[in-house]
Amino acid sequence: MNRSLSIEFSRVTEAAAISAHSWIGRGDKNAADEAAVKAMRYMLNRIHMDGEIVIGEGEIDDAPMLYIGEKVGSGMGEQVSIAVDPIDGTRMTAMGQSGALAVLAAGGKNTFLKAPDMYMEKLVVSAEAKGMIDLNLPIEQNLRRVASRKGKLMSELVVMVLAKPRHNEIIKQIQSLGAKVLAIPDGDVAASVQVCLPDAEADVLYGIGGAPEGVITAAAVRALGGDMQARLLPRNEVKDDTPENQQIAQEEMRRCQEMGVAVNQVLSLNELAHDDNLVFVATGITNGDLLKGIQIKGNFATTETLMIRGQSHTIRRIQSMHYLDGKDPDLYKSIAL
Ligand code: FBP
Repeated sequence: MNRSLSIEFSRVTEAAAISAHSWIGRGDKNAADEAAVKAMRYMLNRIHMDGEIVIGEGEIDDAPMLYIGEKVGSGMGEQVSIAVDPIDGTRMTAMGQSGALAVLAAGGKNTFLKAPDMYMEKLVVSAEAKGMIDLNLPIEQNLRRVASRKGKLMSELVVMVLAKPRHNEIIKQIQSLGAKVLAIPDGDVAASVQVCLPDAEADVLYGIGGAPEGVITAAAVRALGGDMQARLLPRNEVKDDTPENQQIAQEEMRRCQEMGVAVNQVLSLNELAHDDNLVFVATGITNGDLLKGIQIKGNFATTETLMIRGQSHTIRRIQSMHYLDGKDPDLYKSIAL
């Protein structure tokens, strides 16, 4: 992924985040998501590339989502596969809570795992603990191995987990081992990146979240030299085992078979993101620990974007000021859609 193309992607997440801004605190997560999707699609289509969405939030008939298989860009130039999450934290945006961001990962034609939008179990650690995780082992053993590699006591270990009812037991178990749990309401992409940054406060991200978020996370983890394992899970194993969820699970498994990806099997970081030809880009919507949110003053929007390139491993924080009055016709059109 060359540098200039990488920069193009920062314009995509910036536009998505600015578009979502007017929906902060308005209680309508779908409207926020739709605004970010439209902006993302518009900006992706301005890029000179032969792009394809390989993992996103919907299938072909799930308009207005950026759907799996959707072609984006000019259709010429470099072949690029893109994993998108126009808003990681739609509910947080709608409720005005901190930590929501617009995010994507882009790579070469075959860089990312192809999978449907379903649930995924994830275990993420930083470079220091690379090689020490194995999702086939109980979480206790994983935490002990990470602690020993990092020269820490269990009481010094910090584990980030999504605060969802399905994680209540595992949170109790981790706490009973003596480790600290940071339970976050939503947003496991930002949490995973926080675990892998050089100055990380947390040591591990564990839990079940979305598969698109998982693949995007893998791009960042790979670029930061960390480690990750994951496992696709059918909906009825994560949520209640109702007839409706069983039917959704059947469809998920059919799609997985079609895409050639295994369910309920451990996937390595290399299977999630196959090579270093990638870039991870995220722009803050609301203020969070990872990124500042959008600030609008008069005619200007200020954005903060994190961009991490796989080939150079460079971590860039880009602070940009955008005119909202049409001086940047692309940005203006994308937010007016
Ligand atoms: P969205 O805003 O895209 O819904 O994602 C928020 C999020 O917390 C993700 O970070 C996480 O992977 C996923 O939701 C978990 O799914 P669920 O909300 O269904 O438990």
